[in-house]
Amino acid sequence: MTDNKNIKKLYLDKIDKLIKYNRAYFEKDNPIVTDEKFDKLKKELLEMARENPSLKKIKNPEKIVGSKPSDKFKKIKHSQPMLSLSNAFNKEDMLDFKKKIKNYLNITEDLELSSEPKIDGISASLRYIEGKLTYGLSRGDGIFGEDITDNLSTISQIPKKINNPPKIVDVRGEVYISKKDFESIKNKFANPRNAAGGSLRQKNSNETKKIPLKFFAYGIGKIEPKIFKDQTELLENLKKWGFQINQHCKKIKSIQEIEKNHSELESIRSSLDYDVDGIVYKVNNLSLQNRLGSTSNSPRWAIAYKFSSVKAISKINEIIIQVGRTGAITPVAKIDPVTVGGVVVSNATLHNEDEISRKDIRVNDTVLVQRAGDVIPQVLSVDKTKRSTKSKKFIFPEKCLCGYKTKKEISLTTKKIDAVRRCSRGYECNFIAKEKLKHIVSKDAFDIDGLGKKVIDNFWKLKIIKTPSDIFNLDYTKIEKLDGWGDLSIANLKNAINNSRKVVLDKFIFSIGIRHIGQENAKTLANYFKKVEKFSELFIQKKRKEILNSLDELDGIGETQIKSIEDFFSNSKNITIIQSFMSVLDIKNYEKKIKSGKLSNKNIMFTGGFEKMSRSEAKTIAEENGAKILGTVTKKLDYLVIGNSKPTKKKIQTAKELNINLLTEDKWYDLLDR
Ligand code: IVH
Repeated sequence: MTDNKNIKKLYLDKIDKLIKYNRAYFEKDNPIVTDEKFDKLKKELLEMARENPSLKKIKNPEKIVGSKPSDKFKKIKHSQPMLSLSNAFNKEDMLDFKKKIKNYLNITEDLELSSEPKIDGISASLRYIEGKLTYGLSRGDGIFGEDITDNLSTISQIPKKINNPPKIVDVRGEVYISKKDFESIKNKFANPRNAAGGSLRQKNSNETKKIPLKFFAYGIGKIEPKIFKDQTELLENLKKWGFQINQHCKKIKSIQEIEKNHSELESIRSSLDYDVDGIVYKVNNLSLQNRLGSTSNSPRWAIAYKFSSVKAISKINEIIIQVGRTGAITPVAKIDPVTVGGVVVSNATLHNEDEISRKDIRVNDTVLVQRAGDVIPQVLSVDKTKRSTKSKKFIFPEKCLCGYKTKKEISLTTKKIDAVRRCSRGYECNFIAKEKLKHIVSKDAFDIDGLGKKVIDNFWKLKIIKTPSDIFNLDYTKIEKLDGWGDLSIANLKNAINNSRKVVLDKFIFSIGIRHIGQENAKTLANYFKKVEKFSELFIQKKRKEILNSLDELDGIGETQIKSIEDFFSNSKNITIIQSFMSVLDIKNYEKKIKSGKLSNKNIMFTGGFEKMSRSEAKTIAEENGAKILGTVTKKLDYLVIGNSKPTKKKIQTAKELNINLLTEDKWYDLLDR
C-alpha cells in the first residue's frame, strides 16, 4: 500500500470511531469514552485534515462532531409560515428596500422602522393558549415545524406561563448560546449556532438541559385577538410577558440613521456576548406590514442588513471564468487559501469585466478579500504597492468556456450597456446546461433530496445526466457502481425523484430557468396560461407571437421579461429539451385558489395609477376579497377600476361599449367598505 492509501485508511478508521463515540454521546446519551479521549481523537483528525485537505473533502471531522439531529420529531404546521428574510449588504440595497416599500404602498414619506440586532441562532415558535406554553416548534421547512416542546421547555428564559395573555399567541424568537457559555463546550461543536441547533434537536431533553441555551423574543406569528399596533409596542409587551428582548432594539427612519446605526452596532459587535450577523429592519406599523404582505419566501416589510463581515489579505494565482445558468460570465480569482472569519477561502468573485478594469485587478496581485455571511467571498481591493513591474493588465476573455463569442447586452430598462458578458446559447452551451440542471433540482424548483450541486457535477462528468429529462430516466445500474452510493441512498434517490415527477405549472415554469422569470413571475405566467397545453403554444412560432403580445398586461411582466421569454423559446434546442423534459413529468394545470369575500365571483380589471395604493396592492386586495383579475376587457368583466394617473383610453372605450361598470378610485374603496 502506498503511504497515501495508508493515511487514508487510518483517517477513515478514526472517523468511524468518532462517529461511533459521537452517536453514543449525543444520540444515545450513553458516552462510551471519556471526554479527554473524545477530544484527543477529534484533535488528531482535525490535524490530519489540515495537513491533507483531500481527506477533509472525503469527510470533514468538524461536521461530524456535535449532535446529529433526530428525525423523530412530530411535524406540526405553523399557523403562519416562518419565512426567511431577504438580505441587504450596502446602502444601495437598503435604499432599494425603502423604495420598493414606498412604491407598493404608493407613498413618498419615509416609514418608521424597528431596528433589531439579527441574532445568529436558531429560530423557534412558541404557542401559548390562554397564557400557557402549549407547544414549541422549530422552523423546519418554514411551513411545517418540528415539535421540540420538551427541549424548548428546558430553556429558563422561555416562560411557561404569561400574564394578561391573548387567547392564542405564537411568540417567535431566536434560541442561542452566549459566547461565554460556549467556551465550556467548544470542543464538542463547531460554533455556537451549531451547538444551539444540535442541542435543540436532541431526542433526549435531558441532553438539551446540559447546554446553556438562551432565548431572545423578536416577534409573533398568529395572535387572537389582534391587540398590537406596531412592532415597538409588541416588543415592549413581550418584555412584560417575561421574555428577554434585545437591548439594542430601536426605532429608525432615514437612510442616514440606518447607516449610522449599522456602523455603531458593528463597532460593538465583538463586545456583545452573543453572535450577531446584521440588523433586521422591520416596518414598524403592523397594519402596513399586513398591507405589504410577502413574496414567495420573504416578507416585503422586513430585511436583514448584514454586517460587512471579515476581511483578509491574499494573492491571486489565476483568474478563471465561470458560466451561470443564464449565461452570465463571472470572473473568479483563484487565491492562496486564506482563513476569513473561520472559513478557508480559495476562490473569490470578481463580479464582472467592468469591475476588473475599474479596479485594475491582475494575476499575481495582492488583494483584500471579504466574506459576508453566506455570500460568495469577493475581492475588495488591490494593494498596488506590492505589484511587480512585470505585471500585465488582465485581458478579459471574449469567449465562453464553450468556445462561442459572448456579448454584453443593452438593458431595456436603463438603455445602458450591461456590465455582464453573456453566452446566449442556452442549452446549446454545455456549461449553461449543467448550471440549469443544478437549478432544476434546487430547493425552490424540484427540490430533489440527494441530488445536490456536487452530485450533478459528478453525474454530468460521467455523462449520467445531460439534459433535464435524464434526471427522471436515471441509469441506476451505473450509479450503483459509484463510490459513496449504496442500496439505501439509491432507494432514497429513486423515491425523491419519483415524488417530484408531479409538478404544478408555476414550479415547472420557474424551474426551466428563463432569465428574469423568478418564482413570482412564474406564478403570474402560470396563472395566465392555466393549462399545460396553452403553455405549450409557446413552442409554435405564430402562437408564441400572439402570446407575447398579450403578456404586458400582466403584473411584473414587462418588456425585459417578454424579450427574455422570446429569446428562450426562439432557440430550437431549448424547445426540444423542454419538450422532452415535459414528456417525463406529470405537470398539473395551475389553479389559483380563489378566496371568498366581498368580491367573490367578480371579474375585475385595473387601469391607471391610484392615489392611495399601488396597482399591485389593489390587485392583491381584490384577490384577497375573492375577485378574479382579468387581463383584457371582455364581456365577462364586472368592474373596470380607473385610476387618475394615465389610464388606458382604449380599455375605457371598450368597457363603455360593453356596458361594463366603471369605478373611480373612491368608488372602488366604497365597494370594499374601506
Ligand atoms: S424577523 C419574517 N427578527 O433571522 C421575518 N428574525 O432569515 C422573520 N433572526 O431565521 C424573522 N434575529 O430566526 C427576525 N430580530 C429578528 C431576528 C431574526 C434573528 C433570524 C430568524 C430567521 C433569520 C431571518
